[in-house]
Amino acid sequence: PPLEKVINLNDFEEIASKFLKPEVWAYYRTGSLDEITLRENIRSFSKIFFKPRVLQDVRNVDTSTRLLGTSTALPIYITAFANSEWGNPLAEKIYTRAAGEANLIYMIPTMSKYTLEEIESEAHSDQTQWLQIYISSTGKEGSFDKIKQAERLGNISSIAFTIDTAQLGKRESEDRELGKGFRAQRMPHDPSFDWNTLLEYRKRTSLKIILKGIQTKEDALKAAELGIDAIIISNHGGRQLDSSRPTIQVLAEVVPYLKANGYYRKIEVLVDGGIRRGNDVVKALCLGANGVGLGRSFLYSGSIYGKDGVKKAIEILNDEIKLSLRLLGVNRLDQLNENYLDLARFH
Ligand code: FNR
Repeated sequence: PPLEKVINLNDFEEIASKFLKPEVWAYYRTGSLDEITLRENIRSFSKIFFKPRVLQDVRNVDTSTRLLGTSTALPIYITAFANSEWGNPLAEKIYTRAAGEANLIYMIPTMSKYTLEEIESEAHSDQTQWLQIYISSTGKEGSFDKIKQAERLGNISSIAFTIDTAQLGKRESEDRELGKGFRAQRMPHDPSFDWNTLLEYRKRTSLKIILKGIQTKEDALKAAELGIDAIIISNHGGRQLDSSRPTIQVLAEVVPYLKANGYYRKIEVLVDGGIRRGNDVVKALCLGANGVGLGRSFLYSGSIYGKDGVKKAIEILNDEIKLSLRLLGVNRLDQLNENYLDLARFH
């Protein structure tokens, strides 16, 4: 279908389900085990209601913000996803270009098709990116090398360590495709990766540190106490521990806990998982997130329509976020807070 026919992010998913090769669709869409977390990530947003304020002058609404020191057009970023080349041979290059043109941040995955140099050659000179790092049991020095390479390239500001993948989750729809001869390349994850190892990594880099995969207030506080720059509340899009709590629910627990302990806004709080609407983005910001990441929506739009698809997805989010702000009676993101939400059905 022509791109003009796409009116929301769910359309991209629907189209991807029809036009991606079955094994690629299976790999992209799958969650782990019974996919309880995959479903709840999305569903839990529907239990949060808005309390809009009326008769505000909302001619001007500003959706720009800063994430880890970088100004971005929207409070969203394109998160890391491995094997995007199965959907589009230009893989990380199109996400880098789309992010550059839309003034957003893209998190480059460890498992990229292209080298960091190749990816960064697509970036604008002043474009900031993040690099996602998996710690592999076979190549610790390889991870250090990659981080050093990122430092040399100059426009990668932050390293996002994925910390929810001591072992890869059991993803059954993918496994069924594997049975038909489909092969995913997978690195052996290092189950010994712990807080001490993390601090060793931090000592050896000047880049900012993001922890991707925080799921409790206790770990969020620990990260804050250690002076980590940002956490991403994430359950890996429901692909790791099934029955992990939906991320928006974890966010609602983490922010008040950081506040109570004096760390609110001292560590940036990001969240990913199940975000499909501008309304979802605004709900997360009302709950205290600095910004949100989206995975599958960008992966689907980029796989089917290339860079233009990714840009269309961003444009849809931009329009929807502006619309929610106007209808909420808000001009700027920093005005959002819990008073705009009714959480009676959520907690
Ligand atoms: C991922 N995700 C992921 N995360 C990561 O840290 N490294 C990776 O290589 C990948 N690979 C990956 C592949 C695919 C196909 C998906 C769908 C996801 C997780 C990703 O960064 C993010 O946490 C979720 O995708 C967010 O949820 P939504 O937006 O997909 O619902």
